[in-house]
Amino acid sequence: MDLVLLGAPGAGKGTQAERLEQWLAIPQVSSGDLFRVNIAEGTALGRAAQSYIDRGALVPDDVTIGMVAERLAEADCADGAILDGFPRTVAQAKALDELLAEMGRQVDLVPYVTVARETLLERLGGRWTCRACGAVYHQVYRPPEVTGVCDVCGGELYQRPDDTAETQARRIDVYMQETSPLIAYYRERGLLVEIDGERSIDEVEAALRAAVSSMERASSYCP
Ligand code: AP5
Repeated sequence: MDLVLLGAPGAGKGTQAERLEQWLAIPQVSSGDLFRVNIAEGTALGRAAQSYIDRGALVPDDVTIGMVAERLAEADCADGAILDGFPRTVAQAKALDELLAEMGRQVDLVPYVTVARETLLERLGGRWTCRACGAVYHQVYRPPEVTGVCDVCGGELYQRPDDTAETQARRIDVYMQETSPLIAYYRERGLLVEIDGERSIDEVEAALRAAVSSMERASSYCP
């Protein structure tokens, strides 16, 4: 099964992808996480991406598509993936369709997590991320048991450099301009399911599970 989690920065895509990963036993493929690993390791790809990420702009399509294509070709993605943060442009969506078609697959469902702008800013402003395992926390909505320490692995929590007030606003604007056209792209293909992301993390997870289960029932129904 291949899912595309769609939603603005701070909508909760990463938080939910982590949970769906365990339930569906397919990996989360986060383009943002892949970039951050490359930046931390100082690779050529990381150096190419860093200036775009720092200013809240999108990394060029060719770089991004190549990186995600390589990740999807890895063995753990053989049964599908939960795509988080990719695609972000119509060109990326078309490239994903082609990549999956080459593997005899297709996008099965696109849960679109909707959240108001002021909520997005509040979530991004309070986010803490584990430097070691990438687990995501919020100082109010999902606090760690010990301040500054990851519950999962004991790693150090940090605030992402692209979570400054100015870059947050820019990322949301970029999303509105460049990524929101994907809503129509996937709606026209009958794949989009809107999920109200203003609810608690557990409630959003339950709605996502219901959407996936309903899609599975519909696709296995052969009259
Ligand atoms: P990326 O890492 O993908 O960032 P993003 O899309 O901006 O999304 P975020 O990770 O900020 O938010 P999220 O929706 O995952 O929310 P989260 O679960 O963390 O991309 C970073 C950059 O990389 C981009 O700006 C771009 O430069 C580049 N890039 C990446 N992909 C690219 C692509 N395809 N093409 C080109 N460039 C690309 O939650 C946020 C906070 O809210 C957390 O603190 C969480 O605990 C909390 N929270 C979550 N859900 C809830 C809830 N229901 N209630 C209360 N709190 C909640």
